[in-house]
Amino acid sequence: MTKLTPVLSAHWDEKDSFTIEGYKRHGGYTAAAKALKMEPDAIIQLVKDSGLRGRGGAGFPTGMKWGFIPQGDNKDHYLVVNADESEPGTCKDMPLLLANPHVLIEGIIIGSYAIRAKYAFIYIRGEVTHVVRRVQQAIEDAYKAGHLGKNIFGSGVDLELVLHVGAGAYICGEETALLDSLEGFRGQPRLRPPFPAIAGLYARPTVVNNVESIASVPSIINNGAEWFQAMGTEKSKGMTLYSLSGHVANPGQFEAPLGITLRELLELAGGIRKGHQLKFWTPGGSSTPLFTAEHLDTPLDYEGVSAAGSMLGTKALQIFDETTCIVRAVLRWTEFYKHESCGKCTPCREGTWWLVQILKDLESGKGTEADLDKLLDLCSNIMGRSFCALADGAASPIVSSLKYFRSEYMEHLHNGGCPLDPQASTLFEKAGV
Ligand SMILES: Cc1cc2nc3c(=O)[nH]c(=O)nc-3n(C[C@H](O)[C@H](O)[C@H](O)COP(=O)(O)O)c2cc1C
Ligand code: SF4
Repeated sequence: MTKLTPVLSAHWDEKDSFTIEGYKRHGGYTAAAKALKMEPDAIIQLVKDSGLRGRGGAGFPTGMKWGFIPQGDNKDHYLVVNADESEPGTCKDMPLLLANPHVLIEGIIIGSYAIRAKYAFIYIRGEVTHVVRRVQQAIEDAYKAGHLGKNIFGSGVDLELVLHVGAGAYICGEETALLDSLEGFRGQPRLRPPFPAIAGLYARPTVVNNVESIASVPSIINNGAEWFQAMGTEKSKGMTLYSLSGHVANPGQFEAPLGITLRELLELAGGIRKGHQLKFWTPGGSSTPLFTAEHLDTPLDYEGVSAAGSMLGTKALQIFDETTCIVRAVLRWTEFYKHESCGKCTPCREGTWWLVQILKDLESGKGTEADLDKLLDLCSNIMGRSFCALADGAASPIVSSLKYFRSEYMEHLHNGGCPLDPQASTLFEKAGV
């Protein structure tokens, strides 16, 4: 049986795992105390050596990102934690914050000290009130314990931490839109360069990192780079949270070394729900190209998933069995992207609207075969021609579903509706369409 490697999730089953006492019982805040005695550059080097890559989607090396912040520039620096988590299927940061908000706060203390930031921010999505309350309480407790504020841990270092609650917009997870939103503007992506490391929040050098990336840092400080490197694959190091959802017997978070396969994860999760078979799945949330049963043995690390034609993204494995209509699933995702398009650029604003219209026709059996090529043509005009990656993400499920399930789209046309819905054609006939 494949082994899980619970580090972040090690104590989630304890009833007080989210409290400062529960966190300290297992060595919580010892990594921050240790880090504050190190040179900031030595911390950056340690994180670089560990091979930690950003867990927010793109997998950019975390230590390298910290190293981009100019030093000795006499400017304020900021650390901003991205807790927006709005992508369909992505559900790791919220459970982590609910079960153990202090590991994030400890990571923030270490990261801020390393990049010489005296102010840090957590930008959290607006809808998750229960998580907001929990994180706010944890911040208050950390202040009371002297881990935040002036002269933290008696080290002479100051750090203020602000929790900012967004209004609920997927685009505010894109790091520059997030910064605009944090500054009080409408959340829309910024033109780059300048990159946030040079001119980010309030035009000052800023690091934006995902919740899981920062929460992984305390264990690296305490256990060392080699310990972290011993898990994972050649270029994708460490343990990470894989989120299994959908038609699986035991959905949830599975913390395992990078490079595990879906076949192994399904073994741990009790398999596909009883009596059903795997039809398709997303390796990293709805913006990553779909996989099928032929990818069960693909190593789920950055290189393995990309070699197989998709992206590891947020490691949100949404599992769909044979009862799911591919056209309907893709339409639902596309409606989400159309709704969340911020409207700044034309290919995304107009394109996602047209994608929805065509998919609606196809789902209800009113489309034509030419619509399939039109979909692909629209997608190729959107991908790489839009201002930010939201639009590429919108096109991914469409292009990949046509690659693997073109025949099911055609069946909708021949059947006058969804072949999985026995009533579809009858309803159609009744409506006289
Ligand atoms: C539309 C869109 C939404 C995003 N949403 C999130 C999000 O909710 N959380 C996140 O950490 N990164 C999100 N990202 C990626 C961020 O822009 C950024 O790369 C990430 O926060 C960097 O953190 P990391 O280096 O620790 O991975 C999103 C990107 C795009 C284009
Ligand atoms: S691609 Fe979409 S979300 Fe991104 S800037 Fe353009 S309109 Fe906004």
